[in-house]
Amino acid sequence: MKAVFVNGSPRKAWNTATLLQEAQKGAADVGADTEFIHLNDYTYKGCQSCFACKLKDNQTNGICAVRDDLKPILERIMEADVLVLGSPIYFDNMTAEMLAFYERLLFPVLNYKVPVDGKMVRTLPKTKKVGMIFTMNCPAHEMEKVSYTKSLPKIVKKLGMLLSDEEASELYSCNTWQFTDYSKYDVNMFDVEDRARQKEEVFPLEMKKAYEMGKELVRKAGEK
Ligand SMILES: Cc1cc2nc3c(=O)[nH]c(=O)nc-3n(C[C@H](O)[C@H](O)[C@H](O)COP(=O)(O)O)c2cc1C
Repeated sequence: MKAVFVNGSPRKAWNTATLLQEAQKGAADVGADTEFIHLNDYTYKGCQSCFACKLKDNQTNGICAVRDDLKPILERIMEADVLVLGSPIYFDNMTAEMLAFYERLLFPVLNYKVPVDGKMVRTLPKTKKVGMIFTMNCPAHEMEKVSYTKSLPKIVKKLGMLLSDEEASELYSCNTWQFTDYSKYDVNMFDVEDRARQKEEVFPLEMKKAYEMGKELVRKAGEK
C-alpha cells in the first residue's frame, strides 16, 4: 500500500507541511509505505497544451508526456493507492506550483469523451483514495464572503472525480500563523491574539483531523 503526500507550499515546515506530515503519520501508522514530496524542490511547468495525452492510440496511460522533474513523480503517484495534496491559498487559489502540478496530474487522466453509461471516461490505470488540505489567512467565518466555500470545494471535487471512485476528503485550516514574529512586520490587519489562540487551540485539532484523514484514506484503500 503506497501513500503519497504533496506539499504545494514553498515552506517546508509550516502550516501546510505540518498538516500533510500528520496525514502521512496517520497513513504510516496503519501500515502504508509513504512518500512526501515538496514541490518546491523541483523544476517544472504547468500543462504545455501539447495534447500528447489526447492523441488517438496514445500510450501515455494517464501520465503527462512532458519530460521534466515531475515525470518520475507523476509515474510514482499513478501507482499509489492514496494521494493527499496540500496547498496554501495564494490570491484565492492554490499556489502556482500546486496549480501547475494539478494540471499536469489531472489533464492526462481527463478524456474529452462523452460519458458511457453515465460514467466519465478516464485514462486511469489505478483508482485512488484522495484528499486535499488548504491553509489560509482567511478566518473560517469569512470563507463564504470571499467565495472560498464554493471555489475551494470545486478544486477538491475535481481531484476526486478524476482520480477516485468516491469524493475526495477535504480539510480547511483557516486563520493560520503566518510569521514567526508578527511584531517585526509592517502589517496591521491581523488580530494577532486571535491567531495565537488559533495556533494553540485550533491548529492541534486540525492536526488530529489530518492524521485521521491519512489513516482513513489508507484504511479505505485497503478495502478495495
Ligand atoms: C503570495 C501570498 C498570497 C496569499 N494570498 C492569500 C489569499 O488570497 N487568501 C488567504 O486567505 N491567504 C492568503 N495568503 C496566506 C497563506 O495562504 C497562509 O499564510 C498559509 O497558511 C501559508 O501556508 P504555509 O504556512 O504552509 O506556507 C497568501 C500568502 C502569500 C505568501
